Amino acid sequence: MRKFVGERAKRLIANNTIASVVKLNHHHTPCSPNYYSNRSHLRRLPSSLYSPISSYSIMASTPPVTVESLNPKVLKCEYAVRGEIVTVAQKLQQDLQENPGSHPFEEILYCNIGNPQHLGQKPITFFREVLALCDHPVLLDKNETMGLFSADSIKRASSILDQIPGRATGAYSHSQGIKGLRDTIAAGIEARDGFPADPNDIFLTDGASPGVHMMMQLLIRSENDGILCPIPQYPLYSASIALHGGTLVRYYLDEATGWGLEVSELKKQLEAAKEKGITVRALVAINPGNPTGQVLAEENQRQIVDFCKEEGLVLLADEVYQENIYAPDKKFHSFKKICRAMGYGEKDIPLVSFQSVSKGYHGECGKRGGYMEVTGFSSEVRQQFYKVASVNLCSNITGQILASLVMSPPKVGDESYDAYMSERDGILESLARRAKLRRCELQQSRGAMYLFPNIRLPDKAIKAAEDAKKAADAYYALRLLDATGVVVVPGSGFGQVPGSWHFRCTILPQEDKIPAIVSRLTDFHKQFMDEFHITYKAARYILWKL
Ligand SMILES: Cc1ncc(COP(=O)(O)O)c(C=O)c1O
Repeated sequence: MRKFVGERAKRLIANNTIASVVKLNHHHTPCSPNYYSNRSHLRRLPSSLYSPISSYSIMASTPPVTVESLNPKVLKCEYAVRGEIVTVAQKLQQDLQENPGSHPFEEILYCNIGNPQHLGQKPITFFREVLALCDHPVLLDKNETMGLFSADSIKRASSILDQIPGRATGAYSHSQGIKGLRDTIAAGIEARDGFPADPNDIFLTDGASPGVHMMMQLLIRSENDGILCPIPQYPLYSASIALHGGTLVRYYLDEATGWGLEVSELKKQLEAAKEKGITVRALVAINPGNPTGQVLAEENQRQIVDFCKEEGLVLLADEVYQENIYAPDKKFHSFKKICRAMGYGEKDIPLVSFQSVSKGYHGECGKRGGYMEVTGFSSEVRQQFYKVASVNLCSNITGQILASLVMSPPKVGDESYDAYMSERDGILESLARRAKLRRCELQQSRGAMYLFPNIRLPDKAIKAAEDAKKAADAYYALRLLDATGVVVVPGSGFGQVPGSWHFRCTILPQEDKIPAIVSRLTDFHKQFMDEFHITYKAARYILWKL
């Protein structure tokens, strides 16, 4: 019976997947999803699913919602990390499953998104043990549990359950998050920074992204309000500013100095925005950087803090990659610590710091956990923060628990400590080896999870991209995918100095996959340059090395 139900479910899933692929296939240009479509799918579908007359057009002549009648802010918003390239990759993957050998590669290598467990990274055992016990507390009363779970995971799960009203992970919590977990997180921040942290300043969130959205919602009143963002930037920022109707005020990171952040550039862009009548309300600093992987120097951070103080800006500090630093001479310093060490107290500077369970060595992206630490706002403003948080009721409890575990992992003497350290160090050391992947004549990734190489595209390739109505690096990335199965994100999705072209490639595929990626990238680049008549000498810029 179970087998029968399982097979029926598989058939239903297969049919639905095909139906959704058919919906995606609208265009026929070489760089569009439809270019890769396998028309044989259509023959296997009921005719109603591919009839040119949609069931909707039979029912009504004027659809109540069209793309044109949607909120224009939604139409303006773009999010490249999951854009067209991923749709095409998913289609290719389906082709490979249904027709092995239908493409010149055997598998799709997803290097487009910082999603470590999708690419084989294993979760930290201690974290998962605690989550399992919290979610199924009956296990705590069973004799076998002592043999299956570590003593400290049992102890931690029991104490977390004691902090949850009703001892139930299925219940809503306080809108800022469970108080006991916020106590743990505040203690973790204090231990990291050496300065006090207040649990009432912590807002637990479903990953860092909702926290960023919340801040944009609170700060942006109209398109006359601007947010200073690094370029290149992680497109959560451009997308959330667009969704909330504000103006993105770009400041460019300097590629020539390893993506340095110059305060003179901040001043220049702020003045230019003011001249256009824009009130700049906040500055976003992503440290370590995505997509650029740079780690800010302490002195540079102090300059940024002073700049925000002088200009009356909220400092939005995205610190989700705080554990991901690979250069021995670089160290993470939280902006909160920098502010306090400079003598700025709670009232001096409005600062919001974002942390996430998705990154670091834990990579628990799908559990959706994170927090923001909010300091330097009046109690009236804080009440408005709380009101907005309470509209969502609360963030998910699994994510809340994970955020507390990330900020308070096993300590020396705990039963799990050795296993935890070896899992953590194993992941970080492997990431550091993969971060050494680099192009000749270009720096390797110092932090975060990405490489962001500059690709010097010949004029003829740029013209071919224009003809295909694509940005030149999007054209390059689609051709790369088609030829090699490697998925990267075009630099145009992150912003870049006009006329320069890049792509972002994660360092997350497991180490045994890296040699294949290196040779596929190198071979493709040579062929691409040959096609557009550039000599091998020019192409050497993208010979990859480990
Ligand atoms: C710089 C940066 N900030 C925030 C996020 C959002 O992560 P999450 O919402 O999963 O915590 C990401 C995700 O890649 C990121 O790279």
